[in-house]
Amino acid sequence: MSERSQDQIIKELFSGFSKLTRNERFDRLMKMGVITPDDVKVLKSQTKPEVALSEKFIENVIGYYQMPLGVAANFVINKKSYAIPMAVEETSIIAAASKTAKWIRDNGEITTGSIGDVIIGQIQIAKVSDFETFKSKILENKQGLIDRANSEPAANLVKRGGGVRDIEVRKIRRPDEYEMAVVHVYMDPCEAMGANLVNQVVEFLKPFIELCTGETVTMCILSNLVDSKITIAKVTVRGVESALVDKIVEASIFAEEDPYRAATNNKGVLNGIDPILIATGNDWRAVEAGVHSYAARDGQYRSVTKWRQVNGDLVGIFEAPIMVGVVGGVTKLHPLSQLSLRMLGVETSSELAGICAAAGLVQNLGAIKALTTVGIIEGHMRLHIQNLSIGAGASELEMPLMQKKLEEILSLKSRITLSNAKEILSDLRRQAKQKLSSTLKQKKEEGVEQNGV
Ligand code: MEV
Repeated sequence: MSERSQDQIIKELFSGFSKLTRNERFDRLMKMGVITPDDVKVLKSQTKPEVALSEKFIENVIGYYQMPLGVAANFVINKKSYAIPMAVEETSIIAAASKTAKWIRDNGEITTGSIGDVIIGQIQIAKVSDFETFKSKILENKQGLIDRANSEPAANLVKRGGGVRDIEVRKIRRPDEYEMAVVHVYMDPCEAMGANLVNQVVEFLKPFIELCTGETVTMCILSNLVDSKITIAKVTVRGVESALVDKIVEASIFAEEDPYRAATNNKGVLNGIDPILIATGNDWRAVEAGVHSYAARDGQYRSVTKWRQVNGDLVGIFEAPIMVGVVGGVTKLHPLSQLSLRMLGVETSSELAGICAAAGLVQNLGAIKALTTVGIIEGHMRLHIQNLSIGAGASELEMPLMQKKLEEILSLKSRITLSNAKEILSDLRRQAKQKLSSTLKQKKEEGVEQNGV
């Protein structure tokens, strides 16, 4: 089967995906070849919390917190089709991602890449006697330190093509008369996220650094600002109306220049990233820290996405570190992480990082397109109607009428709340009760007439 026809099949299988029942979605995903009948069994058994599983991850366990797991449809990244698993509680994220990905799939493309492949471990010397002497001693012993780390804690990594690559020394300003030094250890973690490995390496190097410099190491830990391993995603959309391009570019400039807007813009970007990290068992706090600190790298917090018109096309770029792994940690232990990774068919951490970056950029486009056209309330609220109806306590029978009434309020006021839903529900029930009692009364009267009493 040619790649083109496989893409075509996936495109057709995603058509109308959101309207299907859960079982029909399982069938489609199996036809795409992204899940197996065994995966379906796992997914169906997820209603029962597995407390024993949580004991493997954390301490003082009292339960199991579950989150909805959905699929973002229509993503074609680097010419490969993906069904993207997303674990998330916020309404409209998956719908917006799928809708925007479809728009891009039909009118453009998504590509990804990376710059650099090493993560950073830090070794702090809080009070160094003389910074320049310390620096020259570390640089003299640099290769020896690298070799030691690569022959012990990073030995397995070296076998897989990774390991410690470089060491640098930086000076940190202190508010007093002392000098502070920090040694940066750069390590290629291969397919692991690398946090545990790099922490092992920096702790291992501590006594050797103390020995060759005569200084005291005060702490050793990885850095989440991984500016030495950056993920890039690029979206191109052709044939976009120029007025819309202008609005999206202006929204982008707003987020690039204003930290207040940048924070919300980047939250929207992470709406597309965090759910994939959670589904695949990756450390989303680490990625959040990396993305936000990278966003402030020039001293001002800015957007991690940028949209411009290039040769008549709308072009967007995402650039930030996305520190993820496809082996080790929770990715290995949690059955749903395993399932999600299988579903994505990813083999490398850079492919997974690219998918995250792409989903973040697509989510951002969906958000700013909505914000600069219909506004967030309408799009968001329409999808929210069902949740409000359930939240108010509506039964399945009451649902269609509830939704109709809430939509009417939404069109009139551009806003709906849970108290609107509760009021509508109590009105509906009161009306139903009145109708029932008048029907009963009528029936009783008819009965009386028939009996000739
Ligand atoms: C809401 O979860 C995310 C947005 O606020 C993002 C944005 O403003 O770009 C809609």
